[in-house]
This record gives sequence, structure tokens and C-alpha cells, in this order.
Amino acid sequence: MHERKIGASMDSLNNLNNDKAAIVKKVHIETWGCQMNVADSEKMLSLLQQRNYELTLNVDEADLVLLNTCHIREKARHKVLSRLGVLNQLKNKKPELKIAVSGCVAQADGKKLIELAPQIDILIGPGKIDQIGHFIDATPHNGVPQVALGFDRHSEEQNSTSTDDIGKFIAPTVSGKKEVTRFVNVIQGCNNFCTFCVVPFTRGREVSKEKSQILNEVRGLVDQGVREITLLGQNVNSYGLDFIKTEIVPQDGGPFVELLKAVSEVQGLERIRFTTSNPHDFTRPLANLFASNKKMGRYIHLPVQSGNDHILERMKRKVTVSEYLGRINWLKEAVPDIAISTDLIVGFPGETEEEFEDTLKLISEVEYSFVYAFKYSARKGTAAARFSNHLSEEIMEARLKRLNDIQNAITLKQNQAEIGQVRDVLFFYENSKIPGMYVGRSEHYRTVRVKSERNLVGLTLPVIITASNKIAMEGILN
Ligand code: SAH
Ligand code: SF4
Ligand code: F3S
Repeated sequence: MHERKIGASMDSLNNLNNDKAAIVKKVHIETWGCQMNVADSEKMLSLLQQRNYELTLNVDEADLVLLNTCHIREKARHKVLSRLGVLNQLKNKKPELKIAVSGCVAQADGKKLIELAPQIDILIGPGKIDQIGHFIDATPHNGVPQVALGFDRHSEEQNSTSTDDIGKFIAPTVSGKKEVTRFVNVIQGCNNFCTFCVVPFTRGREVSKEKSQILNEVRGLVDQGVREITLLGQNVNSYGLDFIKTEIVPQDGGPFVELLKAVSEVQGLERIRFTTSNPHDFTRPLANLFASNKKMGRYIHLPVQSGNDHILERMKRKVTVSEYLGRINWLKEAVPDIAISTDLIVGFPGETEEEFEDTLKLISEVEYSFVYAFKYSARKGTAAARFSNHLSEEIMEARLKRLNDIQNAITLKQNQAEIGQVRDVLFFYENSKIPGMYVGRSEHYRTVRVKSERNLVGLTLPVIITASNKIAMEGILN
């Protein structure tokens, strides 16, 4: 049954393309935020391509501008508002230009956003991106915006009508180029409600994608030359718990470990990574998989947010610092030289100097390969926004700088220790400004640049690291 639906969809796709072959329109897509937004932009682009839109990187030649937005911090939301101001001027010059806003700001601000920016024609939340095609077919130019927000409780729609289902029909990239590394969304939403975070409100509850659908997508991507896949979810290691109707990951690692094993067996795939995993759902079998499965690489991103238990509790992170360190130990026991990165928030409401210093202690203890540290940003509707003792911008700025100075020294030390090592580097692209300079990543997720006369894109090769700085390594083929 599945197969027949696939065939029918492909036929109708071809007919559509033939019928409208003459009218090609152009869409310009700007994507902010996390990798899930990149994956969503790719999916929307594929739906638009079925409506004879082609991607343009030049906003001035666009018939449709799609802003796929992020709401995680106030700064991210501001960027969208100021971009809409610029686009308004473009629309004044070119009234037929359509403006679509999708993503987490669309969901969080809802119709209020249209009051702020009446030039918006289409407003689509992350749970409704499948509808962009219908909206494009239907949009009349009568000035009334089309709006689709909210979430469907289960993945019925997702699993029956999405383009992912069309066998090996694979979403294009938003860069317009073929890429060696791609994202595959495996679980939408988040059930955790950390007190600082908007994601459960902007992305809804957790809904996993069928394993067969994920495998189809991965096989299709690998057939097109993709060599590294990153499985995505806001809480990726709780993948499949909705299928087995539990909130606690089974002792054997559960559906996520099963999924990783199945995906890693896809012939031709060289590396499988995943992000973002939550320490709460992190199991020992998942840590052990890094030791037994070479395709997993030797790197993990495991956000902790703070090094102090009182702050973690007020953040509702559900794990203590020592429980978090327990997970780090599992990983280090499995792979002693594993590279670990994390997310940290500085200046959570009420954070004292001592509590902040616990975070500094933690980063020195774990020795992360790098960290993403953010100043706390109050988000309307979240619990922490209503907490007292919000810290001043100056204090947060000063703490962020202290933290980054410590981490930068750790990162530099680790990168310098790479010199002389032989690493397996998967090459992603040739530097557009320096011909013959290929850029890839080592198994530890470190950026490595190598000069070569032959094209290295898509190959995994041993490289001797010869130089390094805080950001990247240089090397020669071994
Ligand atoms: N699901 C992931 C994180 C998703 S959001 C996890 O649980 O780890 C990405 C990062 O943004 C978070 O890890 C956090 O460090 C940061 N972040 C989220 N909300 C924030 C806020 N209100 N202010 C500052 N940083 C925030
Ligand atoms: Fe946000 Fe917490 Fe969910 Fe991560 S786990 S997306 S920080 S609510
Ligand atoms: Fe931003 Fe939404 Fe991702 S708020 S970080 S785009 S889930």
C-alpha cells in the first residue's frame, strides 16, 4: 500500500511540473535558529519546487521571500522584525512580492505579528509547514494573510502526506548546492518545559517519525552522495517514547539506540551524528554505542545549562550536576578521548556569583571541546520570566566574558594537542575563495583544512594535523 501511494505521488508531481513548465517563480529563503529550522526550510523548499518555484539566493529577484524564524532569545526575534522592515520597503517597490513567515516566531507571536508587520501574506507555524504548498496554490492578492498555526496531536498527517514519504524524493538544500552532510528530523517538539525555554510552546509536544520513513530518507540522501547524517530533535534521545507510550527510556537504550543502529547500517553512510540530546534521557547503552559503532564518530553535544544544582532545579532540568557528570563518565569510559560540547546559560534569574562559579568549575572539570554560552533572555510565557531577581545586562555580559575566556583557553589547548595526530576527516566542500583548499571534519567534530590537487569532497581520509588555532586545524593527507 505504501508503495502504491509513492508511485501515484511521483506521477502527480511529474504532471504538475509538465503543466506549469513555463511559469517558474523564485523563492528566497532565510533561515534562523537551530538545525531543525534548516530541515524545515529544506522541506518547505521541496514543497515549493513542486509548485514550480526555484531557489534564488538573491532576494531582489524573488517572487516569494520565506523567513523561517527563531524565538529562542529576544535578539533572535528582533532580527526577524528588523528584516521584515527591510522587506516592507522591497514590497513597496514590488507589490506582487509575497512574504511568508514560518518558524518559532510565527508560532509564538501568532496573529500579533501580522499587526506589527501587515506586509506578511503567509504565516505558518513549525507544526504546519506541510501547508505551504496549499497556501501558495491558493493565495489570492486580496491582502488577507493566510495563517496556519498550532500542532496536530499525532503524526498522521506527517506520516501520510509529507514529501518524505515519496520514496526517494529527497528535500533539496537551502544552499542550492549538493551537500555531503545533511540533517534528518526524527522527532518534533519537546515535553520538558525547562523554565527558561520557549521550544515546547513553539514546537509542541514530542512526535516521532516512523523508523521506516527515516531509513527511506537516509537511503535516498546517501544515494545522492550524502556521507554524514545528523539525526535531529530538540530532545532527540527521547525518540520513539511516544510509540511505546512511556516517558522513561528503557534500560536497553530504547527506540533511539535501535534507530541509530539501523541508520548506521545504511550502505555508503560514513558518519552518523545526532543533536540535541538531553542528559535526562541519556542512557549507558547510548554511551556504549560510541565505542562499538565507528560510524558514530567521537563527539557528542550534551547540554548542561549550569554547573549548580540549585539553578538546575529552578531551570527544571531534571538532572543534578553529579548525575550529569555520571553520563559524562559513561561516555569517557566508552571512548576515553571523546570530544564533548555543551550549552550554558549565564545569568539565569537569581544566579549568584558562587552559583555562576560552579559553572566555571564544571567547564574546567569536563574540559569541553567547545561550549555555546548564552546570556539568559526572558521569554514571555515561560516560568522563569516570572521569577524575581533578573540580573542586569552588565553582570550577564561580564560573566559571559569570564566563561568564554576560560573555555577559549581549553579549546585552544585541545586543538594544539591535535598537532601530530592522524585523524579521519570527512571532506564537505572546497573553500570558494581558496581553490584547492578542502574543508572537512574529524571524528571529534573539529574543522580540518587540507590542500589538495584532487577533489576530496565526499571522501573520508586520514590526515596528519600540522597546525591549529581556536577555530580550526590544518593538515596534510597521510
Ligand atoms: N533541546 C536542547 C536545547 C534547545 S535550545 C536542550 O535541552 O539542551 C538551545 C539552547 O538555547 C539551549 O540549550 C539553551 O542553552 C539556550 N536557550 C534556550 N532558551 C534560552 C533563553 N531563554 N535564554 C538564553 N538561552 C536560552
Ligand atoms: Fe527547551 Fe528544555 Fe526542551 Fe531543550 S529540553 S528544548 S531546553 S524545554
Ligand atoms: Fe529557535 Fe525554534 Fe529552533 S526557537 S532554536 S528555531 S526550535
